[in-house]
Amino acid sequence: MGKTVICPGSFDPVTYGHIDIITRAAKMFDHVIVGVFVNMEKKPNFDIDERIGFLRRTVGHLPNVEIVGFDGLLADYAKERGATAVVKGLRAVSDFEYEFQMALTNRKLNPDLDTVFLTSDAQYTYLSSSIVKNVASFGGDIRNFVPECIHDEIFERLNTKGKH
Ligand code: PNS
Repeated sequence: MGKTVICPGSFDPVTYGHIDIITRAAKMFDHVIVGVFVNMEKKPNFDIDERIGFLRRTVGHLPNVEIVGFDGLLADYAKERGATAVVKGLRAVSDFEYEFQMALTNRKLNPDLDTVFLTSDAQYTYLSSSIVKNVASFGGDIRNFVPECIHDEIFERLNTKGKH
């Protein structure tokens, strides 16, 4: 049986940084489930179907990648799907504390679940969904942050220039 892993996140919206991590995970593992989960600490701008749609259009072509949405615990979903690891990108030391806490919590809830961190590509270490939302809300150029095929939909929704 091949190795199944989960790349979880809010993906609100997906960025080039996420796409890089998912693409690299797809080369390392047999089956990669990209899961849009609920982060209780964030209020999303895009609903779950929109976020899944952005992922389908950007990483849906990868043959061993499956895109799902799940409103529950990551540790439970991993068990349900027989996933052995969570794969996350680490951008900087500032990500570490939060990611470390989540990794240990998930392992407590599901002792069979490990977390694998991939260092983000140097060109994306600054990039996050929050940066995309911040820049777009002021009408700034987000073409370096998200792919062309989802750009317009994201920009039109987020651009509230002059309405802050
Ligand atoms: O992209 P994010 O917001 O950093 O991803 C965080 C996410 C959504 C993966 C995390 O909040 C999560 O796993 N949510 C599902 C609920 C859960 O399992 N909570 C306990 C882990 S702290």
